[in-house]
Amino acid sequence: MKTYSIALIPGDGIGKDVTAPAWQVLEKVSRHAGFELKSTTFPWSCEYYKETGAMMPADGIETLRAFDAILLGAVGWPAEVPDSVSLHGLLLPIRKAFVQYANIRPHRLLPGVEGPLKARGFDILCIRENTEGEYSGAGGRVHQGTIDEVAVETSIFTRAGVERILRFGFEQARARRGKLASVTKSNAQKYSMVFWDEITERLAGEYPDVAVSSYHIDAMAARMVMAPESLDVVVASNLFGDILTDLGAAIQGGLGFAASANINPDRSAPSMFEPVHGSAPDIAHLGIANPIAAIWSAAMMLDHLGEAGAAEVIMAAIAAATSAGIGTVPGKDRTETITAAVLAALD
Ligand code: NAD
Ligand code: IPM
Ligand code: MN
Repeated sequence: MKTYSIALIPGDGIGKDVTAPAWQVLEKVSRHAGFELKSTTFPWSCEYYKETGAMMPADGIETLRAFDAILLGAVGWPAEVPDSVSLHGLLLPIRKAFVQYANIRPHRLLPGVEGPLKARGFDILCIRENTEGEYSGAGGRVHQGTIDEVAVETSIFTRAGVERILRFGFEQARARRGKLASVTKSNAQKYSMVFWDEITERLAGEYPDVAVSSYHIDAMAARMVMAPESLDVVVASNLFGDILTDLGAAIQGGLGFAASANINPDRSAPSMFEPVHGSAPDIAHLGIANPIAAIWSAAMMLDHLGEAGAAEVIMAAIAAATSAGIGTVPGKDRTETITAAVLAALD
């Protein structure tokens, strides 16, 4: 029997509450589908940081490299560990070290879900650059604490980095409805974003079958609300993609519905799957987090592993649950109720 080894990192807050249901669903679907999933759970989190002084061990990346995929809940407990420490100690280094340069975030309404744009149909695939740009971590502060203090955060965009994410976007568009929206802010940012636009324009010549449009991030934010049905694949830099995908989550009914896949397209290292949302300290461990985003992310993991049929089975079970009105309104149903409905629909 085919066996996949999965590194499970529940992380903090509702990360723990939603990875457990996702794993239950994975286990059940694997039993029916005839492959085996073996999990190893890593307690790397803010709690782990408080005990050890690090978010993960020094050889954490090397440990993870041996797995077929990583399933992550969420990282961050800002009341006790600064986000700048926790995220740069765990989530962001994994994305970078494993060259998971394409962060895929689908935004569409599940049946029965009461999103604010329910009346309109939309099916958007956001492709977020995931390893450089505004998240390069380059910069510093001088004259700290004085009136002369200056803080600099440098965005680094490389030709190789921009080209590969745009190519990825073109390929996705080609496999879908043939439309690519490239997002920048080249009216204000005259180096990096003009560079991005130039590369988009050049690559467009190689993909004559894809209709490309360029938008500024501000206009795209409005378009995602006013005319989401006009969009197919949206490709954006790291920070812009981060912001647009919380907006995408909102139009699909809430953060509890937004899934994501951090993909290493070359398969030279494991990819990582996680919901778009964070650790939600405001609702952590109350049993009310929506597990659908995590379960959907688990389906994306199976698809990436080559188990597309099993991934479809999970998506159909999610749709069956929401069609029956389970988990459709934020806060209405408990985590366990939603999980039970998805598990039951797998039968
Ligand atoms: P958040 O996504 O955790 O929460 C924003 C709001 O959405 C909260 O009101 C929360 O209750 C709600 N929400 C989120 N997920 C939900 C779900 N599944 N079901 C129901 N409601 C849900 O964003 P935040 O509050 O800005 O961040 C909290 C912490 O998480 C911070 O430390 C942040 O840095 C971190 N974070 C981590 C990740 C990640 O690990 N991938 C992503 C985003 C934020
Ligand atoms: C996300 C999160 C992270 C990001 C944070 C927690 C660093 O918001 O995955 O969307 O910005 O990438
Ligand atoms: Mn985000």
